[in-house]
Amino acid sequence: MKLNWIGAVALTAVSAASAKQDDLAYSPPFYPSPWADGQGDWAGAYQRAVDIVSQMTLAEKVNLTTGTGWMLDKCVGQTGSVPRLGILSLCLQDSPLGIRFADYNSAFPAGINVAATWDKTLAYLRGQAMGEEFSDKGIDIQLGPAAGPLGAHPDGGRNWEGFSPDPALTGVLFAETVKGIQDAGVIATAKHYIANEQEHFRQRPEAQGYGFNVSDSLSSTVDDKTMHELYLWPFADAVRAGVGAIMCSYNQINNSYGCENSETLNKLLKAELGFQGFVMSDWSAHHSGVGAALAGMDMSMPGDVSFNSATSFWGANLTVGVLNGTIPQWRVDDMAVRIMAAYYKVGRDTKHTPPNFSSWTRDEYGFEHIAVSAGAYERVNQLVDVQRDHADLIRRIGAESTVLLKNEDALPLDRKEKLVAILGEDAGSNAWGANGCDDRGCDNGTLAMAWGSGTANFPYLVTPEQAIQNEVLQGRGNVFAVTDNWNLKKIATAAKQASVSLVFVNADSGEGYISVDGNEGDRKNLTLWKNGDNVVKAAANNCNNTVVIIHSVGPVLIKEWYDHPNVTGILWAGLPGQESGNSIADVLYGRVNPGAKSPFTWGETRESYGSPLVTEANNGNGAPQSDLSQAGVFIDYRHFDKYNETPIYEFGYGLSYTTFKFSDLQVQQLDAPEYIPTTGKTEAAKTFGKVEDASQYLYPEGQQRVQQFIYPWINSTDLKASSGDPLYGWKDEQYIPKSGTDGSAQPRLPASGGAGGHSGLYDDLFQVSVTVENTGDVAGYEVPQLYVSLGGPNEPKVVLRKFERLYLEASQQQVWTTTLTRRDLANWDVAAQNWVITSHTKTIYVGNSSRKLPLQASLPHVQ
Ligand code: BGC
Ligand code: BGC
Repeated sequence: MKLNWIGAVALTAVSAASAKQDDLAYSPPFYPSPWADGQGDWAGAYQRAVDIVSQMTLAEKVNLTTGTGWMLDKCVGQTGSVPRLGILSLCLQDSPLGIRFADYNSAFPAGINVAATWDKTLAYLRGQAMGEEFSDKGIDIQLGPAAGPLGAHPDGGRNWEGFSPDPALTGVLFAETVKGIQDAGVIATAKHYIANEQEHFRQRPEAQGYGFNVSDSLSSTVDDKTMHELYLWPFADAVRAGVGAIMCSYNQINNSYGCENSETLNKLLKAELGFQGFVMSDWSAHHSGVGAALAGMDMSMPGDVSFNSATSFWGANLTVGVLNGTIPQWRVDDMAVRIMAAYYKVGRDTKHTPPNFSSWTRDEYGFEHIAVSAGAYERVNQLVDVQRDHADLIRRIGAESTVLLKNEDALPLDRKEKLVAILGEDAGSNAWGANGCDDRGCDNGTLAMAWGSGTANFPYLVTPEQAIQNEVLQGRGNVFAVTDNWNLKKIATAAKQASVSLVFVNADSGEGYISVDGNEGDRKNLTLWKNGDNVVKAAANNCNNTVVIIHSVGPVLIKEWYDHPNVTGILWAGLPGQESGNSIADVLYGRVNPGAKSPFTWGETRESYGSPLVTEANNGNGAPQSDLSQAGVFIDYRHFDKYNETPIYEFGYGLSYTTFKFSDLQVQQLDAPEYIPTTGKTEAAKTFGKVEDASQYLYPEGQQRVQQFIYPWINSTDLKASSGDPLYGWKDEQYIPKSGTDGSAQPRLPASGGAGGHSGLYDDLFQVSVTVENTGDVAGYEVPQLYVSLGGPNEPKVVLRKFERLYLEASQQQVWTTTLTRRDLANWDVAAQNWVITSHTKTIYVGNSSRKLPLQASLPHVQ
């Protein structure tokens, strides 16, 4: 039996994992929810959290766990406050690339561009710069970075918010971003957890809006091995980096919702990875009261059941749940401790101020509670400029993330051309203004950011046309620009006269609540938008020096023209943010020697990638099913390698204005302690402070109630009447997991024991070094990439494990040294429930792309 709770305040029931049909994937239960214990470098923050939570009343703890409702306060999400102890409402704000819904903030390059840099330092610096801006606006929790979607589908709408379909590349940059944000004093949120790989059907109401009559949101089928080796991998890195928050996702995983899935939250995240921070729901991804609490969710966002419903699964209902004994006190105490521990861990207590901007209006003055025009009429936007000199970093990342895919003596340009043609709408500005479309929900003019909640307002946007024109004018040349993609005749005419044609094309995508030109978040196809192929061909057929620049959310199909003899250069510039034009000009004119590498594969066709999106309701009126286990770990380059598909440009590929040579691969085995699976038990759950009689949690006398606002207090000591839950008191054993309330010491999982899993997984087993030489005559960047073949019949040919972006002067040589950990060489063993280094021979490969690996060595067997 499958119950559907959306829209009902189903306090006493658990809707999780009830798919009993044999043909549907099933998510096994794992209870009780592990309580934080302050392990590792959380110790100090945990102790401070315990101290303060011990002083809180039940209602105060509940207030931390529940948002105040959609648009009831200034940020996209805000928790209740605890004024008595000096804890203000916590402000949660999008996005992974800058502050959404604000002004005087920077618009950073997207995550996919960070991936293209393969540069850990830039990932960290961008995170830190964002953190500074968020902190200055009074934001406590940044809703980013993203590693879900990972990129199982090349056409997935939100892939660009994250990094790369390769889990190791993503994991490293995800973790560096988390560190940067948190070092600036803001809690980072690793999202969307987990297997949230597509927009179609991600939320039932959204799917219904597109005309699909489905009872539940999409379920991703993920087997245990694929989960560990692919989707969970970067989240383990984020936990290891100390991330304070994780956002559970809209989709179901094996037919249990992401925010009440005891397997993914209780078992994988908290018991196995040892996560000490808190789990917040994605906006309206919360579907049950008791169910989500016992399955490991810690914060409900934005707090109401659906936007502005004035009801909540938590708030007063969480208070009721503790009072009537369906939720143990230790669980709510643990929620509050986890939230406060994250707060102290990043030093938020020293920075915390109320938000000085409003998400909901750009007017200076407005109502405190805008959704209901209530509260003080006040200066909601204080117009605080938080940008510092971040423009320099943005410009640098934009240039250093530009991948040079083809160069036949075309680049770099000098300023000597008599006539430069700048062609394509993607070179120019959006006629409606850079922020002309809400949440960037259109593709007009140059594409520097895709659409959805993962956006920020541009403080300005330097277009390619602007920046390139400035270059050309310095050489007293001429610029003919044609930005009408349907006027191929004008494009041809300009191209014919030009000594170089710079053609700008793009492809966009975004979040499912906005559909642009029939792309319902996910892309309909991988082709260029707005007649792009014809624009390129019109130029190339008329100009023998045609350089194509692609702004896109991921791979696009370029088969029609990439090998055209007149296409002398191709660059992928991704989604570079506010300095777009300056960044591309830096590369085109050689001030920056390109060193980026493609963070995804460029296939000839959509079919060459496998792993199709689910775009039709494929389970009747039930939850559509996306079988991610079909592809398993074979996504992107691993799929191409397995099926002998030749890509146009492979994962990891990218040219430079100089050349490099790799030599002298050395491998040294290191001493490492034996890997002993963890055994023993946890401590028993603790409670902090005590729960009083229900009468203590009634709405305080004289408390003024704002309409729609979610409060922790109850209306009456008659708990049933207070709850508003039509199913109150219904205690079907099937839906109340027996062990969910058990606070006794629990067995530890074999693969657990530290932040990100067993600490032995991170022991170094081998040291590897290689000599990299710049064999050309200009300085440049190279990214040595180390891949491993794990052996075994069902393993990818190679998987990326280590990389580093190096800067070498002309003719300089440098020895690059790295190490391989146990995790790097292991597979997830489903039976042992642990990482195991199999007896198959491990071979390592080093080179500068997934298919250019000149050096190799086999490793001696280790365990
Ligand atoms: C998105 C999240 C976002 C949240 C708040 C959701 O729909 O999936 O990424 O953080 O809304 O805007
Ligand atoms: C909001 C987003 C949110 C989305 C959820 C939109 O109206 O602006 O923040 O991600 O709804 O579907």
